[in-house]
Amino acid sequence: MKRAKITIVGAGNVGSSCALWAAAKELGDIVLIDIPEFADKTAGKALDLAECAPIERFDSKIIGTADYAHARDSDVVVITAGIPRKPGMSRDDLVQTNVQIVKAVAEQVARVAPNSVLIVVSNPLDAMVYTAWKVSGFPTHRVVGQAGCLDIARYRTFIAMELNCSVEDITALLLGGHGDDMVPLPRYTSVSGIPVTQLIPPARLNEIIERAKQGGGEIVKLMGTSAYVAPASGTIQMAEAIIKDKRRILPCAAFCQKEYGVGGYFVGVPCILGKGGVEKVVEVELDAAERKLLDTSVSHVKELVAVAEKFLKG
Ligand code: LAC
Repeated sequence: MKRAKITIVGAGNVGSSCALWAAAKELGDIVLIDIPEFADKTAGKALDLAECAPIERFDSKIIGTADYAHARDSDVVVITAGIPRKPGMSRDDLVQTNVQIVKAVAEQVARVAPNSVLIVVSNPLDAMVYTAWKVSGFPTHRVVGQAGCLDIARYRTFIAMELNCSVEDITALLLGGHGDDMVPLPRYTSVSGIPVTQLIPPARLNEIIERAKQGGGEIVKLMGTSAYVAPASGTIQMAEAIIKDKRRILPCAAFCQKEYGVGGYFVGVPCILGKGGVEKVVEVELDAAERKLLDTSVSHVKELVAVAEKFLKG
C-alpha cells in the first residue's frame, strides 16, 4: 500500500509538534517546510525527529527543507506558517502579517500538491482559512481549518478536571469562530451519555466555558507565546481522519453557505472528515440563545475576513 504523504508548512513550535504527532501515529511520510533562511534549522528538526524512529518504532520518512518540490503530491498539507501571539495580543492582531505569509504558502502548495486537502492552523484562523481557499483555488471541501478540535479538547479537559473523571468519556460540541466568542454548547455536552448539565451546576459550568473560550490567552499569558502541543494534536486528529478516511465527526472551520445560514464563510461547525476533506457539514438544532451566540461569533469572522481581503488585494 502506498504510504500517505503529509506536508507541514511552518517548522516553528506548532509545525514541529504536528510532525511529532504525525510520526508517533505513523500517518505517513512527513515533509516539514520553512523559509530558506531556516533551511538548516528545518532539516535539523526533521533529522532529530527521524532519529527517534528506532525507539518509537515508526517507519515514516521525515525530511526538513525549504524546497516545495518535496511536497509534490501530498495527500494532506498543514499550514502553520505565520507569526504567533505575544502577551497582550489578540489573534486578530496577526492578520496583516499572516495574510501575506499564508498567501505565499498557498500559492506554492496549489502548484505542487493540487489534489491535497489543506488544513490551516495559522491565526487568525477563520480569516487564514478563507485566505488559503481564495489563493489556492481549491474546492471548498478540500480546505479546512483547525480550531474546534483544540477548543473542544480544552473544554473537555476542564470538565474532566471538575468531575475528576476520564477525559475520554466527555463528548462535546462547539460552534463559531476561533476567537474569544466561540460557542461551546452545554446542551450538546455529555459525560458517558449523561448530559453535563445534570453533573455541573449552571454557574460553575459557565466558568468552565469561559475558561475554555479564553484557553489560548491563558497559555500565552503563562508561556509568553502561543500554545503548540495541543493545537498540533488537534491538527493531527484531523489529518488522521482524512488520511485514514475515518469519517469522524469533528468540529472544524468549514465553508458554510446555506449551512447555519452563514452565507459563504469558514466557521467552526461539526463536519464529517474523510479522504475528500470535509465530506459533510452536520447541522444541529439551536435554540434562540445559542443562535444569538453563533450569530455574534460569525459576524466577528465576517469582519475579520473583510480585513484579510483588504490586505490580500494589497
Ligand atoms: C490557541 C491558539 C493556537 O488557541 O490559537 O492556543
